[in-house]
Amino acid sequence: LASVDVDLSVIAVGERVTIKWRGKPVFIVRRTKTEIAAARHDDEAALVDRETDASRIINQPWLVVIGICTHLGCVPLGQKETDSRGDYGGWFCPCHGSHYDTSGRIRKGPAPRNLDLPPYQFVAADVLRIG
Ligand code: FES
Repeated sequence: LASVDVDLSVIAVGERVTIKWRGKPVFIVRRTKTEIAAARHDDEAALVDRETDASRIINQPWLVVIGICTHLGCVPLGQKETDSRGDYGGWFCPCHGSHYDTSGRIRKGPAPRNLDLPPYQFVAADVLRIG
């Protein structure tokens, strides 16, 4: 499918959902206030791939990223509450140890870039269209 619509009304605060888009996992996160605050706070940190949290977001609290590690393409852990989320509370790629923050930015490990953003838009208050 070229595009996929996702009903956001069923996603709770703090919940992370994975959907498939063009064969790729896309991570959708309804971030908590704490996760948003951590991401904004770290806009000032020494980032490998410098981007502000605001530049990676269309509509708070929603973070939408392609769930593929930018190192060699593993799917990072962190979508389940029981997963390791790494040192920055986002995702942890177990293949070679890349740590991503709550904005999906690479913070530690060999990945060269932040998690990529898919093309997406809000077609209604509670409906996200990816692609
Ligand atoms: Fe993720 Fe290497 S593929 S750290």
